[in-house]
Amino acid sequence: MNIEYIKEASQYVKNHIKTTPRIGIILGSGLGDLADQVKDKIIVKYSDVPYLPVSTVKGHAGQFVFGKLGEKDVVMMQGRFHYYEGNKMADLALPIYIMKMIGVEELIVTNAAGGVNVSFKPGDLMLIKDHINFACNNPLIGKNVDEMGERFPDMSSAYNKELFELSKNVSKKIGIDVVEGTYFMMTGPSYETPAEIKMIRVLGGDAVGMSTVPEVIAANHCKIKVIGISCITNMAAGILEQPLNHKEVIETSNKVKDKFIRFVSEIVKEI
Ligand code: HPA
Repeated sequence: MNIEYIKEASQYVKNHIKTTPRIGIILGSGLGDLADQVKDKIIVKYSDVPYLPVSTVKGHAGQFVFGKLGEKDVVMMQGRFHYYEGNKMADLALPIYIMKMIGVEELIVTNAAGGVNVSFKPGDLMLIKDHINFACNNPLIGKNVDEMGERFPDMSSAYNKELFELSKNVSKKIGIDVVEGTYFMMTGPSYETPAEIKMIRVLGGDAVGMSTVPEVIAANHCKIKVIGISCITNMAAGILEQPLNHKEVIETSNKVKDKFIRFVSEIVKEI
C-alpha cells in the first residue's frame, strides 16, 4: 500500500459523492440488506475504484453505498474483501483508508461468525470486545504509510470502549439481547475442524470467522473508532452433530436481519 494509491482511489470516490459521512458500516454475509434502508443513495462500485480488489463471494454486492441512514450520512460497504479470496492483506486496508480520507471517524464492522462459546445460539448478536488475529498475517506489513498512521499502532482498545458501552445501552433500550465476546479470525475458506474449535475456545475465542480483523487493524492504524458486531449464524464445527455450510450461514443471517437492522440503525442514531 502506498499513499499515492490511497489518494487516487479516494479522489475517485470523492468525485462521485455529495455527502461527507462520518460513519462507515461494513456489512457482513447475509447482512447486506441494511443498505436498502439508505435514502438518497449513491452507489460506487468497487470495480470502478482504482486499486480496489474485486470481491468474489456470492451474496456480497461489491459496492460502497452512500446516503442517509435515519438522519445521518453514512457510507456502507455492501460486500467486503477477504484474505481467503487471494487478496494481499495490505489490500484489505485500502477501503478503510478510503473511508478515512473521506472523513469517516467511526466504523461499525459486522460479520457472520460461528459460535464457539457454547452458551451462544444461532441468531445471537455478539458485540465484539476484542479479537485474536490467527490469520497470522497483518495488513500493515510492508512499508508504513506514515500519512495514515504510525508504524506500531496500539491495539489495546481496538474496539472502542465508549462505543461498546453505547451499543450495549442501545441494545437494552430497544430490547435486543446481545452477547459479548472475542472474535477469532481464521483464514478460511474451509470451515474449522472440531479440534480447531476446541483450540479456539481454549485460546479465548467466543466466535470464529474469516474477516473483520484486517479491517479493524487498518481502522486502528488510521485512528477510526470501531464497533464490531458478529451475527452468530451457526454453532462452530463439532458443537452440534451436523455439518456446516454457507447456506445455513446465509439463512440465519436472513432470519436475524430485522433485529440486526434495528440495532445498527439505532446505534447510528446515537453515535
Ligand atoms: N467458521 C468460520 N467462519 C464462519 C462461520 C464458522 O463457523 N460461520 C460463519 N462464518
